[in-house]
Amino acid sequence: MAEEFKVTPWEVEGKVDYLKLVKDFGLKLIDDNLIKRIQQITGELNVMLRRKFFFAHRDLDLTLNDYEKGQGFFLYTGRGPSGPMHIGHLIPFHFTKWLQDKFKVNVYIEITDDEKFLEKDNLSYEEVQKWAYENVLDIIAVGFDPNKTFIFYDSEYIKNVYPLLIKIAKKINFSLVKAVFGFKESTNIGMIFFPSLQIVPTFFEKKRCLIPASIDQDPYWRIQRDLAESLGYYKAAMISCKFFPPLTGITGKMSSSKPETAIWLTDSEEQIKRKVFRYAFSGGQPTVELHRKYGGNPEIDVCFQWLYNFFEENDEKIKKIEEDYRSGKMLSGELKQILIEKLIEFLNKHKERRERAKDLVHVYKYEGDLAKEMWNKIYL
Ligand code: TYM
Repeated sequence: MAEEFKVTPWEVEGKVDYLKLVKDFGLKLIDDNLIKRIQQITGELNVMLRRKFFFAHRDLDLTLNDYEKGQGFFLYTGRGPSGPMHIGHLIPFHFTKWLQDKFKVNVYIEITDDEKFLEKDNLSYEEVQKWAYENVLDIIAVGFDPNKTFIFYDSEYIKNVYPLLIKIAKKINFSLVKAVFGFKESTNIGMIFFPSLQIVPTFFEKKRCLIPASIDQDPYWRIQRDLAESLGYYKAAMISCKFFPPLTGITGKMSSSKPETAIWLTDSEEQIKRKVFRYAFSGGQPTVELHRKYGGNPEIDVCFQWLYNFFEENDEKIKKIEEDYRSGKMLSGELKQILIEKLIEFLNKHKERRERAKDLVHVYKYEGDLAKEMWNKIYL
């Protein structure tokens, strides 16, 4: 019998069957032809595309057509500031930056300070604002083009979009959001209205919007695609990734409420070492002797999965790691050590850039070319 799993924007549980999700949500798999097409434009391929961590899409082919015709497109992604960010949260941002570098397009980054205040019973508005600031530093550290990127908080930018927002809201009824998001009679009315806020940035330009995000955000886009054309806009396109697996095993996703499942962007070298050695789920055998004899299983080994999907870009190296691990030549401890070194290197760089980001917040929010343009716009 197939294992039960659950994926919503607020919860991921169980072993996700991605093929089933693609079918149920109505996405398409990114096939080799599409990857070749991207490569023809971008020259090189990001590791997350090459290894199909970004694996599903809607209208990515049409987005590439628009690009080739010179009509262009824009990118949109976001973050709900409910706490510190972990490695998994950062991944769609790194991919978005890669797309921005290659296609030279605008990026809009929504910080849903309203959503997280409304959703979490135990989070005050002030705490959400604090996390919004902290998260924006992490996002800026990714290195987006400051003149082609606009980072905005819903609570601040709402005045520029309110007329358009209520046009969206008028097209969504309670029974729809109940069915799509599982809202109940007891759900607060802020949450019931919120989906219109996550949809509105898809209309920031009269071009196709491409959304790089994990597949948990998909319910919003299904609603967007049903109403966009009736308001005179494009149906949004998406390029969707899987969930970076929690340290503790390949089911579910890293979770803020279970600290041992995640590596936080602020973790120290000591914390990284301790967590990986203690919690990282291993595909190895219980004893060295058995491991040498039967080898490890990279498919379920979290360290291998993290290296494969993001941290080890070199195809030769990852192939060698896979072979050695599978054959039993490489032990789990050695594999963990490889990941630890990669994580420390990555996070040291991130932390340095994050420090510098403190001086750049006003640029991405207000003073960069795109930010200035956006504050002068009113969306009717
Ligand atoms: P949030 O803050 O839950 O997540 C931020 C981004 O990270 C993705 N994500 C993951 N990706 C890979 N592995 C994981 N384990 C993992 N966990 C989370 C999410 O899919 C998301 O892309 N409501 C949104 C904020 C938002 C948004 C958007 C996101 C507003 N507009 C447009 C994407 C696109 C939220 O709370 O995301």
